[in-house]
Amino acid sequence: MYRDPVESLEPLHHRQAAIRTLRVGMIGIGTVGSGTFRVLARNRADIAARAGRSIELVMVAARNLERAAGIVGDSVALTADAMHVATHPDVDVVVEVAGGTGPARDWVLAAIAHGKHVVTANKALLAVHGAEIFAAAREKGVIVAYEGAVAVSIPIIKALREGLAANRIEWVAGIINGTTNFILSKMRDEGLDFAAALEQAQALGYAEADPSFDIEGVDAAHKLTLLAANAFGMPLRFADAQVEGITALQGVDVACAEQLGYRIKLLGVARRQAAGVELRVQPVLVPAAHLMAQVNGSMNAVMVKSDAAGLTMYYGAGAGSEQTASAVIADLVDVARLDGVHAAQHVPHLGVHAHATNALAVLPRAAVHTSHYLRVPVHALDQIQAIAAGLAERKVPVRQVALAAERPGVGPQVLVLTGPVEQGALDLAVHALQARAEVAGPVTTLRVESLEG
Ligand code: HSE
Repeated sequence: MYRDPVESLEPLHHRQAAIRTLRVGMIGIGTVGSGTFRVLARNRADIAARAGRSIELVMVAARNLERAAGIVGDSVALTADAMHVATHPDVDVVVEVAGGTGPARDWVLAAIAHGKHVVTANKALLAVHGAEIFAAAREKGVIVAYEGAVAVSIPIIKALREGLAANRIEWVAGIINGTTNFILSKMRDEGLDFAAALEQAQALGYAEADPSFDIEGVDAAHKLTLLAANAFGMPLRFADAQVEGITALQGVDVACAEQLGYRIKLLGVARRQAAGVELRVQPVLVPAAHLMAQVNGSMNAVMVKSDAAGLTMYYGAGAGSEQTASAVIADLVDVARLDGVHAAQHVPHLGVHAHATNALAVLPRAAVHTSHYLRVPVHALDQIQAIAAGLAERKVPVRQVALAAERPGVGPQVLVLTGPVEQGALDLAVHALQARAEVAGPVTTLRVESLEG
């Protein structure tokens, strides 16, 4: 007779053992930690139903105990010693939401060494120390889950690792830093200058403690490193990523891109090529009509091109207290379900594939193959053809040439859109162009991403 598989599993003794409450110790009770506490309390019954058991916050480590008590009341044990939480026998899973890469690494490794699962939203920690942390977790058979580390409210890690598990992923591209997207949107829509826009992003709590991580593209590169590892089963290669932020971006290029029908976005791109993987964060031109160009303010979006599902796109808040809590608690639900299950049945830490894609190398900058935008200051408006001819001589395919609309204080500018060309070849052509008599100042180049299937 057919028996419901859930019902038939119930009597198994290991199942009985795993059914008890999942006890959570949390390190840090700042923006993310307090959001996690609130959402866990507010949605307690639904979360327990989805996890198959209740999830209880039993212990919190905080720098300011008085402030922490004001948040969690007296229902949770408080300590100023994070290592106490990481190693305590009453804790099944450690949630690390303190941030940073120094002490956080020690806490996470200690928790793993004590056989505890770890949930973290710390992208910098994983991008830099992930190889060591995931190796330790594999050794111990525990889970390290990190949905909250990338584009918080978007379940993109789950999408790559589970929803798209049938696919060969070809590329992943996304707006994965809310601060810079907020700044670019404010500069374009309200004509705000860079510093004022950054100040607003900081006041709204989007920016990292060190905002240079946001504006220099480092935060996006941390997240891209995790996305690429999931998408391609490659090791974490943060150190090899090409990272460019938005600090050198000029308002004139935002306007010239608009004139050509594009918007400038800080994009993280991981693309599989025959010889390796492109792993790069940089401001790029995206067609203004493309969905990605409509992602504004602090919102994030990730697009994935895979062989069976085709193009898919995911949109949501990239930062925020309860938005990050949503991801952290989803990870806790996974841990609640998988705790006690044989480690081989765990969802892989980084979607590391059994076959040898680990050999995937990061392509050098010179080998990246995209279309480009060029802005060339010239002495006179009639020099437009000379610029196009100069590029064609160097075998750069020229798709469009135009004169930039006049703007006060800016001399004549020739705008060029190229077809796809290797960065190395483009660099040589731009170098040669720069030496021409017609060229009146430094040539600006930006990549153009079509984001098509
Ligand atoms: N500083 C990050 C951002 C926070 O702006 O996206 C979320 O990771």
